[in-house]
Amino acid sequence: MSNPRYLVTAALPYSNNRLHVGHIAGAYLPADIYVRYLRARGHDVRFICGSDDNGVAALKSAREEGVSVEALTAKYNRSQRESFAGLGINFDIFGGTHQPGFVETHERLSQEFFLRIHEKGLFTKRTTRQLYDLEAQQFLPDRFVTGTCPFCKSPGAYGDQCENCNRVMEQTELINPISTMTGTTPEPRETTHWFLRLDQLQDRLATWLREKKDPQKADAQWRAIVINQSVGRIESEGLPERAMTRDMSWGVPVPLNDPDAAGKVLYVWFDAPIGYVSFTSVLCDQLGEGADGYRDWWMNPDCRVVNFIGEDNIVFHAITFPAMMLATHESDSIQGEAGEYQLPHNVVANAFLNFKFPGQDEEKMSKSRGTALWIEDYLEAYDPDPLRYYLTAIAPEQQRAAFEMADFVSRNNGELLAALGNLVNRTLTFAHKYFDGKVPDPGERDTFDREHLERCRKQVARVTEELEACRFKSALEEMMVLARHGNGYFDATKPFQTRKTDMAACGRAVNVCLQTVRTLTTVMAPFLPFSAERCLRMLGLDESALGWDTASDELPAGHALGETEYLVKKLDPDEVLGVA
Ligand code: MF3
Ligand code: ZN
Repeated sequence: MSNPRYLVTAALPYSNNRLHVGHIAGAYLPADIYVRYLRARGHDVRFICGSDDNGVAALKSAREEGVSVEALTAKYNRSQRESFAGLGINFDIFGGTHQPGFVETHERLSQEFFLRIHEKGLFTKRTTRQLYDLEAQQFLPDRFVTGTCPFCKSPGAYGDQCENCNRVMEQTELINPISTMTGTTPEPRETTHWFLRLDQLQDRLATWLREKKDPQKADAQWRAIVINQSVGRIESEGLPERAMTRDMSWGVPVPLNDPDAAGKVLYVWFDAPIGYVSFTSVLCDQLGEGADGYRDWWMNPDCRVVNFIGEDNIVFHAITFPAMMLATHESDSIQGEAGEYQLPHNVVANAFLNFKFPGQDEEKMSKSRGTALWIEDYLEAYDPDPLRYYLTAIAPEQQRAAFEMADFVSRNNGELLAALGNLVNRTLTFAHKYFDGKVPDPGERDTFDREHLERCRKQVARVTEELEACRFKSALEEMMVLARHGNGYFDATKPFQTRKTDMAACGRAVNVCLQTVRTLTTVMAPFLPFSAERCLRMLGLDESALGWDTASDELPAGHALGETEYLVKKLDPDEVLGVA
């Protein structure tokens, strides 16, 4: 695979809420950085997202807001789309599993998927007990039941997953279940569902997953948190069958001619990941490649699928969805033959981002407690890049981290502005003032100049290595080291002094500084796309200068620079945005 194509997905956000900084840090920003980098490397990339409209989350919020579930999901789908666009997170398509223009394709592909697994005999139809709310007279969807987690014993676990330990369960396993619809204690009643035979698939899954932690075998190093919550789970407990249907009317109808299927829909965690596929199909259709064009991405061994998710999504992306794909295969080759669904190349998960008020303990982001910063509010007050910078600098890649407003301001002023903004602005201002807005002659470079430029090239290689490995936080740090080298060089060569004594030396130094800014422009672009665009304008370059291989190309002497603009604005710590 010399030049693989990439299909990058970011977890489909539930369309029952606005987006806050925690969502962005968890999946969307790292995915966007990765996509921008891959494109700069010349890969053919499709970047897929959209809202997760089915399931109970939307039903519950529609009930609370007193609107139809269609209206609710349409409203938040739009709001999310705008937030992403404002942050420069540019998907090739942003669909929605129940949105007009998408729902038809989505239902068709989800039902085909289900029927294929059914044909392969990998569902067990079983009658089990589910919790039934006597007052509401209905079976309770998972999110409408809370209780104590049977594993970690923490309260407030939902009927399908505990938010404390991330383990998944059947709702009847909850201790002291309560219906959130009526506040009553539901009773178990019999109902029939289709269970995915994970037990039949678990050996192949385990073999596949184990390779991901073996640096000799894996072509991508998976993060420890992903390996632990997948291989770890299989090895310690094995995989029980899981129900893939639900008693509900909102969702994708179960496509079986069976009286027991009436009034039932596919489990939202069955249909949602198929959303990645169905949105790809709609995109291919829009691009004139036909609705089946998705096969060239999803069923093509030369395409790498990379999923970006938050920690609570690991089980579904590293176990359930791959198991669903395996269940559709004819062959028993684990990765799948050409023409069959290919298992993901990498599943990149971040831990949660908490929220911290001054002088208080970190808390989970929550709408009701006001411990979240909403993207819409942020964008009214600030530029997108400072947030992209901060969320990458504190990225919860190995463990949970916390968003703190004061920290955001101090890193903007003390790092982004002090190192990067400062280098760019003083270099450009100087070139305009003393060199007529043109790149001065490099003259005869001395050892110090050459060593600095060599150090810059090495830094580019470091950033590259970190980005390849999806270590975005450390990639950003390496990019900032490059900016600091630039400042160190500027300070050491003192062009502000030599301009009075030795104009040739001054020109040489400014030339090298401009080359450094030139390199930084390419390298900052995946992280700070808006700033990179301003740098391009200031340097009088076009988009082609963002090609990763051009990063160390030199600006020729005499090249005309563009007008100087601000790169990073100073933020006033006393005027920071309140949160709500
Ligand atoms: N809506 C889910 C969440 O926000 C993520 C769904 S990801 C998908 O946690 F793969 F299922 F689409
Ligand atoms: Zn738990």
